[in-house]
Amino acid sequence: MTSKTVAELLSQDGTLQDVSIKGWVRTFRANRFIALNDGSTINNIQCVVDFENFDEALLKRVTTGAAIHVTGELVESQGKGQSVEIVVKTLDVLGDSDPETYPIQPKKHTFEFLRANAHLRTRTNTFSAVMRLRSSLSFAIHKYFNENGFNYMHTPIVTGSDAEGAGEMFKVTTLDAKNPPLNEDGTVNYKEDFFGKETNLTVSGQLEAETYAMSLGKVYTFGPTFRAENSNTTRHLAEFWMIEPEVAFMDLAGNMDLAEDFMKSVLSYILENNKEDLEFLDNRLQKEEEKLPQAQRSDMSLIEKIKFVVDNNFKRVSYTEAIEILRNCKPNKKKKFNYLINEWGADLQSEHERFLVEKHFKCPVILFDYPANIKAFYMRLNEPDSEGRETVRAMDILFPGIGEMVGGSQREERLDVLKEKMKALDIDEEELWWYLDLRKYGTAVHSGFGLGFERLVMFATGMGNIRDVIPYPRTPQNAEF
Ligand code: 4AD
Ligand code: MG
Repeated sequence: MTSKTVAELLSQDGTLQDVSIKGWVRTFRANRFIALNDGSTINNIQCVVDFENFDEALLKRVTTGAAIHVTGELVESQGKGQSVEIVVKTLDVLGDSDPETYPIQPKKHTFEFLRANAHLRTRTNTFSAVMRLRSSLSFAIHKYFNENGFNYMHTPIVTGSDAEGAGEMFKVTTLDAKNPPLNEDGTVNYKEDFFGKETNLTVSGQLEAETYAMSLGKVYTFGPTFRAENSNTTRHLAEFWMIEPEVAFMDLAGNMDLAEDFMKSVLSYILENNKEDLEFLDNRLQKEEEKLPQAQRSDMSLIEKIKFVVDNNFKRVSYTEAIEILRNCKPNKKKKFNYLINEWGADLQSEHERFLVEKHFKCPVILFDYPANIKAFYMRLNEPDSEGRETVRAMDILFPGIGEMVGGSQREERLDVLKEKMKALDIDEEELWWYLDLRKYGTAVHSGFGLGFERLVMFATGMGNIRDVIPYPRTPQNAEF
């Protein structure tokens, strides 16, 4: 008799003589009905025990959270709510769970409470559904790139460069913090550090990915990235996963096409393959929204929102057009924004991004051609516009309910322009000699983008806090587990 998963048993056609199943007890009702879950599906299998034939002391140990092994017969269910159930022949308790102390009781817990118990929260329906979807989405991402001729590249985690030039890096060192070796001028002598130089955890694999795009053509990275930004928001993590494709001979328009096609593809994958989990999360969200006043409820359900993204074109809008819209919009005129938009050149805050996607366009928006001085050094400079303003071939993709999901650009491929830009921003040429080499030897137009994986998972699951879509969130003042 081989053990099966709950998913396998529930999708079984007809009955089965001998089945064996292991899982964790969700509930045990009337000393008779065990709802058993093993993580393979959102659904439980009902195991029916005839309590007269079982030792009372054994049945007492069937508590929420206990690991059990059941054998028996799979029959058509007598009751409502399930098509099949197991009539239990043998029952073993593999691991007890003390009902007095087990935190995950069969009742509604707050997400804050479950975050503090993140090691057990995937025993709940919501978190098991979210994490199965996370897994499925990451598979769909690899599948998409694999089917489209991309090579998967592992960029280094420890690096000497600050790809974004934003200085939000975690240092990596083996020096003694209390007594580091010093230079004559009193600064720390990193020549004596492990790598013989200053190093940090990567904020982005982009620069290294560019080197491989300029030889393998189409590459992508999908790995952890680290940012020491002190942002305590529902959308920022200190450790998050990023997908970064990089393609040679592709311009900004091609980059937008790729990003849009890619996102639609991975979202349709989960619509196809994760129906039950999505339906569960869709229901959860609808119940949550029922508590809100009508005006705050969304017009679309979770599944409708995902389908909408899959079926409709993203709106492509230049920064200059966006500024005009924002300057003339009601919340700006009535001074409702925290940061008022007065002139071209202003950096967009999330309140502006949300206005554009949620109120004005009501769909995903690709904003492009940003002012050069609010974007990173590596972005391709455009010819100045009719008013002499300098923009770069940058693009950000904004999503309803999320804000910025993707940041990308065409890269500056001209050596002289790049060097000038680095000089102006005080970026060390010697540190990035290898990056400059790409512009010396066979340079070409190339582009790429970075998609924050957790923000995609948030959109796909309807979860409102980024801490609830990654197993163990790292945020300021928190690195538990
Ligand atoms: O816009 P960002 O900073 O772009 C880059 O890092 C480029 N080097 C990417 C590239 O062109 N290859 O980050 C890209 C995306 C953002 O749009 C956002 O979705 C996500 O990464 N992101 C974060 N997600 C969670 N927590 C944070 N602290 C994040 N910072 C950025
Ligand atoms: Mg960005």
